[in-house]
Amino acid sequence: MKGTDVTGLPVFDPDLLPDADLASPALHAEYDLAALWRRLRDEEPVYWHPAASESSDGSAVSAPGFWVVTRHADAVAVLRDGQRFTSTSGNVLETLLVGGDSAAGKMLAVTDGPRHAEVRRLITAALTPALMDRLAERIAAQVRSLIRDALDAGTCDFGRDVAAAVPLATICDLLAVPDADRPYIHRLGASSVSSHAATLSTADAWTAKNEILSYFLDLADSRRGSGGEDLVTMLANAKVRGRPLGTDEIVFNCYSLILGGDETTRLAMTGAVHALAAEPAQWRALRGGEVGIDPATEEVLRWTTPSRHLGRLATEPAVLGGRDIGAGDVVTVWLASANFDEREFADPLRFTLDRTPNRHITFAYGPHFCLGARLGRIQLAATLEALRDLVAGIEVVGTPGHVYSNFLGGICDLPVVLKAA
Ligand code: HEM
Repeated sequence: MKGTDVTGLPVFDPDLLPDADLASPALHAEYDLAALWRRLRDEEPVYWHPAASESSDGSAVSAPGFWVVTRHADAVAVLRDGQRFTSTSGNVLETLLVGGDSAAGKMLAVTDGPRHAEVRRLITAALTPALMDRLAERIAAQVRSLIRDALDAGTCDFGRDVAAAVPLATICDLLAVPDADRPYIHRLGASSVSSHAATLSTADAWTAKNEILSYFLDLADSRRGSGGEDLVTMLANAKVRGRPLGTDEIVFNCYSLILGGDETTRLAMTGAVHALAAEPAQWRALRGGEVGIDPATEEVLRWTTPSRHLGRLATEPAVLGGRDIGAGDVVTVWLASANFDEREFADPLRFTLDRTPNRHITFAYGPHFCLGARLGRIQLAATLEALRDLVAGIEVVGTPGHVYSNFLGGICDLPVVLKAA
């Protein structure tokens, strides 16, 4: 390995492509893969990743091979075609490689076709502009208060002390989780979807996930027939073609907001602070008002790309990037590469807050385009605004901690000193 990038990680030597196990969480947490992605985009934009036949301790395992799509245009082509590249067998390697997702057909992200469109329409309709405005006000106040606390404390871990609190509170607001239950949901949320450690216990994550599902089951039962305006009540009372939603559809879709909206948003918020500390000219431009909050938010989304890859299963033979994809093949789309494709972005490895155009696909593309994109943007914009208005200086004072996962990526722990404006 040679050199380090701004994240402080060693650069993975692209000549080692044949040895790179893209399914390995450690590869993503411990190396900067920019040079590897570049090699793939230039030389093998649709690459066949060989099957894993052995684990590192020599014991036999078998995980099928999969396609690796790294260019922006090819990524968009796969993501927009939900019929040929389905999500119903899973939308990340973790589930696709073991043959399916237990929430298939019940949770939006792993449902396709008319049912996906019907349930998605319901949830979209509930996310009204008036609700978004109400949430935006609460988010701005919460972020400012957390950043003031961080300024008072001097040193803080931006990931744990600031970013960790905001997205889950927002999702709890959306679902109207009673205040008394929120610490419980925060605790379960942290154990069920967080991938902060190399030694995450799958058993704990499984138990926490089931506790969350049963919590939402009780909440939905208690709200059925009531007149509340929150998402749980709406889903509990909703009818599609005259029939109520299945209980499992209600609870999995409540859970999916935590799954989709918590850690992703935290990683973008923490990554923003890290990038601003590493790029003083950009930080000055933000503070001085030379760059607007909206383009800055988009560049942070591109730069951090919290969802590293998305997976699909080919339902029929297809040709992509000159390669023949077979029916039943697993196809992975690497947003972490597509968002840095020179064919789409000028000087992609530069963090440029006023980048235009900025057609990043951080929120995906096509039928599964992130349902929480507006909320994610509101939370990030609030963070950038609060930093701009309240903070004069950001200094990273410890080693950033990176997420151990092949589908989420970025900085989760970031010790910083914030100086008051
Ligand atoms: C879908 C990323 C915030 C809820 C997605 C997808 C991506 C994504 C890449 C597509 C998944 C696929 O195609 O397989 C992000 C990022 C966020 C963010 C990077 C923050 C920066 C949120 C928030 C919520 C949310 C705040 C909810 C409150 C969802 C849901 C879906 C989704 C429900 C499934 C939509 C569907 O399948 O139709 N998100 N997300 N996300 N996201 Fe987000």
